[in-house]
Amino acid sequence: MTRLTILEYPDPRLRTKAAPVATVDAGIRQLIDDLLETMYASKGVGLAATQVDRHVRVLVADVSEEKNQPLAFVNPEVLAREDVGTMQEGCLSVPGFWEDVDRAHKVRVRALGRDGKPFELDAEGLLAVCIQHEMDHLEGKLFVDYLSELKRTRIRKKLEKEQRQRSADGVRPRAPAL
Ligand code: NI
Repeated sequence: MTRLTILEYPDPRLRTKAAPVATVDAGIRQLIDDLLETMYASKGVGLAATQVDRHVRVLVADVSEEKNQPLAFVNPEVLAREDVGTMQEGCLSVPGFWEDVDRAHKVRVRALGRDGKPFELDAEGLLAVCIQHEMDHLEGKLFVDYLSELKRTRIRKKLEKEQRQRSADGVRPRAPAL
């Protein structure tokens, strides 16, 4: 498994709309495993392929306390949603910010699993919110899009400043390994 690089807001690649997966083949299974590894290493509870610059409809999640219940969703669809409520959300692509977002707290989801077989799942609470948040990524949408223009601009400027500082601190480009 490989830990992948997570794109950070306002990287325009995060705005790409992901394409449906035609077949759950070895490449997709590899992507699922790499997404899970990257998500666990980054202490996230969900990660969408878009965030690692792969524009296919794949997302992973694990909201368990023990981090031992990995879930993978290929071509996910929400069949029903209810119980809209507010929850504080963060995002590995928007590091350091948490804001209130309204979403359905109960959803029924249909997707293909890592084995390529279709399944349906009733999700509640954090898992329901997480699935919708990750599905937004596949549409090129971020949770900051639900905030006011003022808040979004403040977050963008802070992150751009951090990103500039990081490159000025001179992570020197490495010569290719032979
Ligand atoms: Ni996110």
